[in-house]
Amino acid sequence: MTNTEDTKTNFGVLASGRGSNFAALLQRQSEGYFEKARLVSLISNKPEAPALELASEAGMHSQGLRPRDFASADAYEAEIVRLFDEQGVEWLLLAGYLKIVGPTILNRYGGRILNIHPSLLPSFPGLDAQAQALAHGVRFSGCTVHFVDDKLDSGPIIGQRVVPVNPDDTEEDLSARILVQEHELFPTCVKAISERPWKIEGRRVVFLDDYPDAP
Ligand code: GRF
Repeated sequence: MTNTEDTKTNFGVLASGRGSNFAALLQRQSEGYFEKARLVSLISNKPEAPALELASEAGMHSQGLRPRDFASADAYEAEIVRLFDEQGVEWLLLAGYLKIVGPTILNRYGGRILNIHPSLLPSFPGLDAQAQALAHGVRFSGCTVHFVDDKLDSGPIIGQRVVPVNPDDTEEDLSARILVQEHELFPTCVKAISERPWKIEGRRVVFLDDYPDAP
């Protein structure tokens, strides 16, 4: 007897730039790392974003949309929702999406959107997180994968990785050190959220099993 039932959850990706986190997710997918998650579509607010090319090379649906081509931010987001609906998207990943997600996307996917941010939240939300870390003289920084809510980089934290900050680090040095960890953390969190039992308790994501590799 074969079990042909499709038990994977379809993920849509929003990305604005080079897409190295998306590439890491694709790599893990091609290795069969995700048992219950499938990347099906990538939409970018920058039609020239390299992430779009990565998606189409991987045979995925991809689409660039210029927000300024739409009458309003809501109209732009409604088109994203429409395209993702066509692809059967159920969850979203923000992989370097340099726009605030508005109410149209939040209403459709609320509680099912993950973002990756290059700091140990709640420290240094927003743009230039690595420069903020250097300016504050912190000894450690890192990256965070979290649920998206209606505030900037503020939803419940799923996983984090820590890196040291060296005294002579430039922004590029620190960003590169954090990025290595981002590429490991994001797939780990996608896998954990799609495969493990969890619940949100207050502002905390609590995993209900006891794996040694908790994200
Ligand atoms: C990453 O540092 C991510 O944490 C932040 O934007 C950057 C995107 O990089 N949100 P890439 O496009 O995934 O290479």
